[in-house]
Amino acid sequence: PIPVIIDCDTGVDDALALLFAVRHPGLDVRAVTCVAGNTDVDGVVRNTLTVLEYAGAGDIPVARGAERPLIEPVRTAGHVHGQDGMGDLGLPAPTRRPVDVDAVTLLRREILASPRPVTLIPTAPLTNIALLLRTHPEVTRNIERIVFMGGAVTTGNATPVAEFNVWHDPEAAAILLTAGVPITMYGLDVFKRVLVPAADVARLRASPEPRLRLAGELLAHRDPATSGDPTPTGGLGDAGAVCAVADPAGLTTELLPVEVSLAPGPARGQTVVDRRPRPGESEIHEGAREQTLVDVALDVDVERYVKLWLTAVEG
Ligand code: BDR
Repeated sequence: PIPVIIDCDTGVDDALALLFAVRHPGLDVRAVTCVAGNTDVDGVVRNTLTVLEYAGAGDIPVARGAERPLIEPVRTAGHVHGQDGMGDLGLPAPTRRPVDVDAVTLLRREILASPRPVTLIPTAPLTNIALLLRTHPEVTRNIERIVFMGGAVTTGNATPVAEFNVWHDPEAAAILLTAGVPITMYGLDVFKRVLVPAADVARLRASPEPRLRLAGELLAHRDPATSGDPTPTGGLGDAGAVCAVADPAGLTTELLPVEVSLAPGPARGQTVVDRRPRPGESEIHEGAREQTLVDVALDVDVERYVKLWLTAVEG
């Protein structure tokens, strides 16, 4: 199996990502690290531990990470994920505790200890990852690649042009994009498209198995447009980024220059993706600038990822 570490801000769809990751036989989840984002970091730790218990994940180490972005204040997303970050489903408190080292320390330890290079899957603001890269740059020698949920080629969600995870900590995202390791950007353009059909959500919600019922309730929560509908259709959200690691052939990507807009103002947090077929005027006149090429997701096989996710979670 592929050794992976998930850095998350659980979060309804982070929970869907965790449920999939620990159940998929092709993935070996070495650690899970938590960061402020969808909810405050202590809430993220609690939610993550609870979800891992539902998933029957054993004793995968979980660490608490950054409680705020590098520069911005914390701006949680209770309007999307509920006040507790988990759809206010009234889930039980976890019985386990996080490890007694911080997320950056755990990331370093697990990356360097892994016999095979690790794939990092951040599904959250990139604060922990930026701190890791700046504090322990030697980790890059044992990172296979970083597949992150964040950014957008076209339209944003936090602002007209910025996606939430990048908008929450734009400086951290900029550090990630210049990490010098292969990076895949699983952005909003594909994120929004992977929807589990209503009949599957209904089946999960009716299951006697707590793990599957939780998955169904979380999927149901993801569809605000049909809230109150007994058979809603749910987005896999962050879980799609984990599917992209388990089954890269389901994703169509292109290596493109990507830069994060850091200036204050309406474009802050935008991932500016250069899709021009030829160099533009500035490059012709000034010579090519050093550009970071990122493998940007442009299309996704929706049915394939829904089937992949359901098979692993229900299996
Ligand atoms: C991202 O922001 C969060 O609300 C989701 O969990 C996802 O990681 C989408 O913009």
